[in-house]
Formats: sequence, C-alpha cells, structure tokens
Amino acid sequence: MNGPDLSTRPALSRACLEARAFQPIIDALTAHVALLDGDATIVGVNAAWMRYADANQGHQADYGIGLNYLALLEGVQGCVPGDAKSEEDTLIARQVAQGLREVLSGRREKFQLEYPCPSPTESRWFLVTITPFPHPGQLRVVVAHEDLTALKQAQETTLRQTAQLAGAFSSTVDAIALFVEKRDPYTAGHQHQVAVLCERIARRMGLDAARRHGLVLGAKIHDIGKIAIPADILGKPGRLSPPELEIIRSHPETGYDILRGIDFPWPIADMVYQHHERLDGSGYPQGLQGDAICLEARIIAVADVYDAITSHRPYRPARPMETGLCELMNGRGRLYDSEVVEAFIAVMQTPEKAQQL
Ligand SMILES: [Fe+2]
Repeated sequence: MNGPDLSTRPALSRACLEARAFQPIIDALTAHVALLDGDATIVGVNAAWMRYADANQGHQADYGIGLNYLALLEGVQGCVPGDAKSEEDTLIARQVAQGLREVLSGRREKFQLEYPCPSPTESRWFLVTITPFPHPGQLRVVVAHEDLTALKQAQETTLRQTAQLAGAFSSTVDAIALFVEKRDPYTAGHQHQVAVLCERIARRMGLDAARRHGLVLGAKIHDIGKIAIPADILGKPGRLSPPELEIIRSHPETGYDILRGIDFPWPIADMVYQHHERLDGSGYPQGLQGDAICLEARIIAVADVYDAITSHRPYRPARPMETGLCELMNGRGRLYDSEVVEAFIAVMQTPEKAQQL
C-alpha cells in the first residue's frame, strides 16, 4: 500500500485553507501525516508526507490535498511506482479503509495497523494510526504513517541472536552431556533417553515450546554431578556400601554447584538439584515436598525412574517395561506427580516417533 494517485485534484476547499493553521505543528512530526475532513477528504499533509511522496511516487503538486482518502485506498497501487497492486496491498488498503470509516462514524476511537511496504532495495514496515481530533464545526481525522523499519530490523536481529544463543546453549549442553557419559559408559545414552521422554511428557502436558526446550536441556545434563564421582564407584558391578551410596547421592548437589553460576534462561540448576526429590519429602538431597519441587524436576524424575528401571545396569540386567510402569503407578501422587505420570502413561500408549533433540 502506498500514497494516493494524485493525478486529478479539485480546487482547494475552505477546510484545506483552515488546515494550514496546523502546518507548523504537523511539519514537526517525523510520521507521514495527512489531515482529513469528516468526509475523508485530504485537507492537509505534512512535510514528511511530501518528502515520502517525492521519493517514492515522483513529485506531484498538492500531494493529494482535495482528494478523498477512502477513494484513494480503494484504488491503491503497489508500494513502488509502476508496481501492480498485490493481493496483500489490496487487503491492507481494505482494512485501513474499514478502520477509517469506523473512526469517521465514531464507532472506534482509534485505528492502528502495522503493514509491510517493501521497496526494491529493502523490506520496509509502517504503522498507520487514524485518530479523530476536535475541530470547531466539523470532525477532523489525522492519518499518520510511521516508519517502523528500523524497529522491525532490530527485532529481527534480536530474534536471530536469540536463536543463535539458544543454539549455543544446546551445543554447550550436548558437549557437557557427552563428557559426563564418557566417564560413565554404563549409563551412556541415559540422559538423552530421559530428555526424549521429558519432551514427550511435556508436550502431552501442553507446556509451551520455550519451556520444553529448557526442560530438554536440563534433562540432558541432569546427572552432570556424576563427573565428581570416582569411576570405580560409578561402574561398580556389585552392591554399593553406605559410604559409596552417600557419594552417589551427592551428584544432584554437585550438579547444582556446577550450574548455578550459569545464567540460563531456564531453571536448569534447580532441575538438576531436584531431580531425585519426591512429592512426600522422601527424596534427596533437600527432602523437598509437593510444589516446592519445580515442575521440570518432577517430569525428569518420572522419566529418570522409568529409564533407570528399564535399562541395563552394571549390577543388574534391564527390567521389563511393566516393572517401570508399576513403579510409577504405585508411587503416583505419593512419590511422583500424578499429572506427570498420567501424561507419561498416555505417551507410552501412543506410537513413538523418532525424535531429534
Ligand atoms: Fe540422577
């Protein structure tokens, strides 16, 4: 959408002459401004409007003053002179025309619409605002087109940088997970498998994409604290002694200590710290209860328990899927979050698709 086709102009009306009183004020604005009378006839435009018209439509005397803006919108041309009007231009022009009618009729206090207006050399964006203002004897309306291009470009840059940052987080987490599992080959793949289950559970529970992403990252490194556990304890095939068990049980706190200084956009350090907590307070290391355990940690706990039971361990073979499901069902509401267990059961009943995390 762009400015009007100014090829035919009626003689200047009294309203046009009156509008000149506002000229110094509207000339001080950077938005492209047109003043309309109660019939949508353009009675004045500002210097920015004229400069834009000169640059984009070639110089045209009076810049549409005396023409009807609604009629101009209905005959809107492409943004660039000579361009055929596109479907998008037509749609935008219709929306603006409708908004203008509503403002003129008093059914709407203000109309605003962001719209794209690309030139051959750049993507441009504008915000059109249509507002009435009191004028003795007759309604007047201000139509202002503000150039949002710089703002939109800044937003795009921010989005791109955020995506790069998220990618960097993911790569860093993957590297940490690999390092942890290199030291503990018996549980290689465990953290990844837990992350896959967490994603499926969280999707089933309706968590949004950003929160699921943080959960997956936390799940991928939930056992990071195991890097501080001697390899001979981690891989011990027989029963662990009480002191050895105590060392194993230190891994959530060690993980928390490693991660708490990193400013992740998600509570990853808490997920790691709390993944062995249980609803009734019987977990470790803090003995947290109920909602004091963050939701992500409650999800990781369910996926972690199931994967641990159904996977091979140095001291025992993998146990059947039913054993894992029984443990979760028996502990549902007491040890494990009921909603999470329900989502997990539902997930297990639906066919698994290959998933890249
Ligand atoms: Fe763990």
